[in-house]
Amino acid sequence: MKTYKAFQVIEKEAKQFERKVVEMEKPKIESGQVLIKVHFSSINYKDFLSSIGNKGVTRNYPHVPGIDASGVVEESQSADFPPGTEVIVTGFDLGMNTDGGFGEYILTPQEWVVKKPDGLSLEEAMIYGTAGFTAAQCIEAILGNTDHEQLMSKEVVVTGASGGVGSLAVMILSHLGYSVHALSRKEGDFLKQCGAQAVASPSDWQAGLDEKKPLLQEQWSAGVDTVGGSILSDVLRTSGYRSTIACCGMVADIKLTSSVFPFILRGVKLYGIDSAMCPINLKKQIWDRLATNWKPQKLHDLKKVIGLDELEASLMLMKEGKSQGRIVLRHNI
Ligand SMILES: NC(=O)c1ccc[n+]([C@@H]2O[C@H](COP(=O)([O-])OP(=O)(O)OC[C@H]3O[C@@H](n4cnc5c(N)ncnc54)[C@H](OP(=O)(O)O)[C@@H]3O)[C@@H](O)[C@H]2O)c1
Repeated sequence: MKTYKAFQVIEKEAKQFERKVVEMEKPKIESGQVLIKVHFSSINYKDFLSSIGNKGVTRNYPHVPGIDASGVVEESQSADFPPGTEVIVTGFDLGMNTDGGFGEYILTPQEWVVKKPDGLSLEEAMIYGTAGFTAAQCIEAILGNTDHEQLMSKEVVVTGASGGVGSLAVMILSHLGYSVHALSRKEGDFLKQCGAQAVASPSDWQAGLDEKKPLLQEQWSAGVDTVGGSILSDVLRTSGYRSTIACCGMVADIKLTSSVFPFILRGVKLYGIDSAMCPINLKKQIWDRLATNWKPQKLHDLKKVIGLDELEASLMLMKEGKSQGRIVLRHNI
């Protein structure tokens, strides 16, 4: 097959973007590269940003988004990844300024590629995708920086909890035996089914907090924050002594306002998480963990599987914060 299908974003005129499924020419492989037949991709918030023309994510269009891909190496200029190898690619420049997993093929440098661990299927790798990888990095930061007894003494808070990163953080933390308090704007049983002990609306929770005090009653032993802004500020004010808060997202706001008191009086640690440029050896370790003892039994409950023609509608759910769990894109294989 010389051509393949891809979901492409086109800039029709300045700041006017069109999205459609197109036929593309299969690219020619060069030294150090691998050509991967993509079986699955998934939707992340960054893909939504790339799809609506956010130039902080994607500078030039036409472009194929998709920061995640799992599939099989078809052609290879790398001794490490011969044809037939099942692989995962997440982050680096994939789907940003390099055509990504929303196409049936991707061409990437070998340095971006991870061999799929045995304990995961190609589909499961994309139920996790960058969202799960990020949740795992947050949890690793928490476990590596927080005393176990202390972690068990209070709840771990997760914000934006029904989204991709949030729901996977809830599921993995509860699978590992921690008591999770989910903050979510959505109603329903979804987060309880993911393993949350408690679910609360962030606005109800924030309404009960004294606006003026820089420190409030200690509620959390740790936290995964995917939203930023005032919710993260309030998480910091209510964090327990020597707790670790992993900060990875900004759906609510890119700004953060805080006094220094959570840090200098309670020893709270605010830990920044980046998945895209995470060094490849660390990536491999985290994927191994996700394939073994961190893999929740209910992982498949999070997925909704769609085809290329359903991508547009699913991406736009993110605009309104309406997405829930993980949307997996299955290519025609
Ligand atoms: N640092 C990294 O490497 C990295 C990697 C992956 C993702 N991220 C970031 O993490 C964030 C979440 O990504 P995702 O893929 O999980 O997105 P997502 O699936 O769209 O989930 C985001 C969730 O946040 C909540 N939310 C949405 N808009 C909100 C608002 N205005 N105020 C408060 N809450 C809001 C919603 O959950 P509820 O309805 O349950 O509140 C929504 O489902 C994004 O900012 C993304 O860029 C960062």
